[in-house]
Amino acid sequence: MRIDGSVALVTGANRGIGRAITEALLKCGSTKVYAGARDPKTLEPLREHHGSRLVPVRLDVTDAVQVAEVVGQATDIDLLVNNAGAFEPTELTDQAIIEVARREMEVNYFGVLRMVRGFADTLGRRGGVIVNICSVAGLTNVPLQPTYSASKAAQNSLTQAARALLAAQAVSVYGVYPGPVDTDMTKDLPAEFEKTSPGDIAKAMLAGIEAGEEDIFPDAFSAAFGEQFHSSPKNAERQMAAIVAASA
Ligand SMILES: NC(=O)c1ccc[n+]([C@@H]2O[C@H](COP(=O)([O-])OP(=O)(O)OC[C@H]3O[C@@H](n4cnc5c(N)ncnc54)[C@H](OP(=O)(O)O)[C@@H]3O)[C@@H](O)[C@H]2O)c1
Repeated sequence: MRIDGSVALVTGANRGIGRAITEALLKCGSTKVYAGARDPKTLEPLREHHGSRLVPVRLDVTDAVQVAEVVGQATDIDLLVNNAGAFEPTELTDQAIIEVARREMEVNYFGVLRMVRGFADTLGRRGGVIVNICSVAGLTNVPLQPTYSASKAAQNSLTQAARALLAAQAVSVYGVYPGPVDTDMTKDLPAEFEKTSPGDIAKAMLAGIEAGEEDIFPDAFSAAFGEQFHSSPKNAERQMAAIVAASA
């Protein structure tokens, strides 16, 4: 797909990776980007900078009514970026772990599922593209983030299902698998983790889509981890477990 001339929708567009993707799309020639945010006021700086090519939409991906409204409004998109994501620190022995796991699944899995179901017809009519911002943590559990990793694994599985099930409508489905990225989500990550900038992730994501790479590993950590994972899932699991042992 060519980004130039595309019409896109990005969830969680107000900050972090979603904001960087929104800006990169507009820089690379998207004619319109619907920018989803739970609080559209947080999109004001983007709107001021980009004018009418940026269309703010109120969108909490856990809210079926809001998703349906946006599906009804954004009937001209050919690119859907499921970026919105939730992470809460927890440990296996926490009393609240079940509630934490449910909240993460509600955004990272059910939210993406709701968006894919909602936009399948629109994208099917236009031979469009879905991009899911997954994570290396969804390929191999990062035990420092046990429930988040499980929700990203569910999202990865959904990405594979959508790719197979929407192929007949010529919808292409891409998975992006970043390593640590410098956003609010990773503010408490131990200092030894090198973080990539959201802008570099967005640039690599767009290059991957234009090159037709189904699985995009957009930074040095994820590229190395992706190779490890594909050559030996068991060694990748041990590598993630070793991170816990080292940080104990
Ligand atoms: N940072 C990393 O190291 C990293 C690595 C791999 C993958 N990822 C993935 O990249 C994506 C973006 O993460 P980030 O690092 O940019 O995180 P972030 O800075 O914490 O931003 C999260 C974004 O998701 C939005 N969001 C959360 N719950 C939502 C909901 N129910 N409905 C709609 N929007 C919601 C937030 O909106 P509010 O402002 O309203 O909270 C915010 O815009 C996520 O899917 C994450 O899992 C991140």
